Formats: sequence, structure tokens, C-alpha cells
Amino acid sequence: METYTLADQTAIVTGASRGIGKVIAQLFASEGAATVLCSRSAERIEAAGEDIEQSLEDNCPGEVHPIECDVTEATDVQALVDATVERFDGVDILVNNAGGSFDEDGKIHTVSGDTWDRSLGVNLTGPFLCSREVIPPMAQTGGGSIVHISTANAISGIGLGAYSAAKSGLYALSRTIAVHYGYHDIRSNVISLGTIMTEQRQDRMDNPPTDTHQDLLAEYPLGRFGWPEEVADATLFLASPRSSFVTGVEFPVDGGLTAGISQQFHQPVANVEDIPRRSD
Ligand SMILES: NC(=O)c1ccc[n+]([C@@H]2O[C@H](COP(=O)([O-])OP(=O)(O)OC[C@H]3O[C@@H](n4cnc5c(N)ncnc54)[C@H](OP(=O)(O)O)[C@@H]3O)[C@@H](O)[C@H]2O)c1
Repeated sequence: METYTLADQTAIVTGASRGIGKVIAQLFASEGAATVLCSRSAERIEAAGEDIEQSLEDNCPGEVHPIECDVTEATDVQALVDATVERFDGVDILVNNAGGSFDEDGKIHTVSGDTWDRSLGVNLTGPFLCSREVIPPMAQTGGGSIVHISTANAISGIGLGAYSAAKSGLYALSRTIAVHYGYHDIRSNVISLGTIMTEQRQDRMDNPPTDTHQDLLAEYPLGRFGWPEEVADATLFLASPRSSFVTGVEFPVDGGLTAGISQQFHQPVANVEDIPRRSD
């Protein structure tokens, strides 16, 4: 008989109407979880729920439950968690995925107060509100796992000012949860992403293709950007009992972007091209 990694588990995935969150929710449901997915739009999240439902194999025990919820609104988040607990008698996994940057974000001396607030709202306050609501029910049922989706931008001083600052706050939030609630067997970890090729991201990169993207690509030791499925696999590991002794860590899923210094500097110094590659 087939075994499912998340059989009998209930998971909440925020920001799952598209992109990385939708792929995580799809994997979790296909691994047997009762998967509650949310976004700000009832229409978009229900459409995503239908897509995922249709992709599940006939005998898969996984389920999907789309719920409209803006993670920056405390009352919405409370209703999301209450509905989950009422329906499934608890919640075992939370993935704080909803997030993103805003066009107006940029250098700190030009960021408006409004952009700063919006960026902190979705990228840090949202994960705080969701964590705050799930911790008591998780503790009551013997523990759980919280995974926060951050960015490589938050590790070094690259990228957008408000976005990077907000995402780096996830490290402290996560470590604090790990330290305080280990007693209740609640684990908390962060995944820090490099560039991930969601459909939206691909559209933006292709229209029009720019030198900046080529320069960025050149900084990736693996020589490519990542795929949402690769993020979902890492999230599944940290969410599931397979990582039962892992808590309070920051786990880069970034093709090696943050492993060293600039590739342009590194390549001439540590040239390994004398060994032929399989594709050569
Ligand atoms: N793609 C990358 O290269 C990359 C790199 C580093 C980090 N990340 C992080 O990975 C996560 C997912 O990124 P993505 O590229 O998949 O983003 P995306 O395609 O823009 O999707 C974002 C998701 O979040 C939802 N959302 C936005 N604001 C929300 C709110 N206030 N409440 C609830 N849901 C909300 C959106 O749905 P609605 O519009 O329907 O609400 C959507 O489902 C984000 O946290 C992002 O910062 C992405």
C-alpha cells in the first residue's frame, strides 16, 4: 500500500492562490494532508483549490479547503485558524508563505512610509499573526511544525530595502518560536529562497529580458534559477516528521547564491573547468 508523508496531518498554507504557495499546497495534499489554503481573494483561492483537487489521485487521502483570508488582518487570521481547528480537530503545520515586494520599494532613502508598512504587514506581521493563532491549538494536540518563507535578500544587503528588512525579521520570529515552544514539540524553521521561476516571475523576466537578469543568473553557482517544486520539496521536509530534530534553523534554497562571494570574483580564483561537465 502507498504511504503518504503527511497522512492524518492538517496544514495551513498562506498565499496559495498562485506561485510557490499553490505548488506547496498541491504537494501537501498529494502527500495526504488536509490542506487549508488561503489568499485575499475568494475567487482566486477557490480556483486554486479546484485545480489542486483535480490533480489528486483517486485514492489519495489528501483534501483541500480554500478560505479567503488576508494575513495582515487579525480577525481574518483568527477566523482561518478557528475554521481549520473546528473542521479538522487541530492544526499540525503552518506554512507562512504569503508575501512579496512592492514596485515602490527600493533604496532605504526613497522608501515611503506606506510602502514600508505594507511590506512589513504582509511579510512579517502576517506570519506573526498566523503563528500566534496556531500555537495554542498545536500545543494542545502535541506539537507541530511552522515553516516561514523568506528570501536570500534578507541574508545579505541585496534587493529591496523594506522587503529585505521585513523578511529578515522572520529569522528572529522563527528562532523565538523554536526556543519558547520546543517544550510543546512545536518546531519553527525558515527557508530562504533565491530566485524562483513562478509563472509570474518568468513573465516579468521574459518581457523584456534584461542584462540584469543575466548578471543575476551568473551569480548562481548552479547556473540556474529555482523551480517552485524545489521549494515545495524543502518545505515538505521541514513540515513533516522527517525533520523531527530540526528547529530554529535557516535553510537556504538558493542554488548556492549565499554560499560564497561573487561568482565573478570566485571563478577565476577557483577555476574547476578543467574537469569536463557531462553536458560538454
Ligand atoms: N518567487 C521568488 O523568486 C521568491 C524569492 C524569494 C522569496 N519569495 C517569497 O516566496 C513567497 C511566495 O512568492 P511567489 O513568488 O509565489 O509570490 P506570488 O506569485 O506573488 O504569490 C503570492 C501569494 O500570496 C498571496 N497573498 C499576497 N498578499 C496576501 C495577503 N495579505 N494575505 C493572504 N495572501 C496574500 C497571493 O494571493 P492573492 O493575490 O490572491 O491574495 C498569492 O497567492 C513570498 O513570501 C515571497 O516573498 C519568492
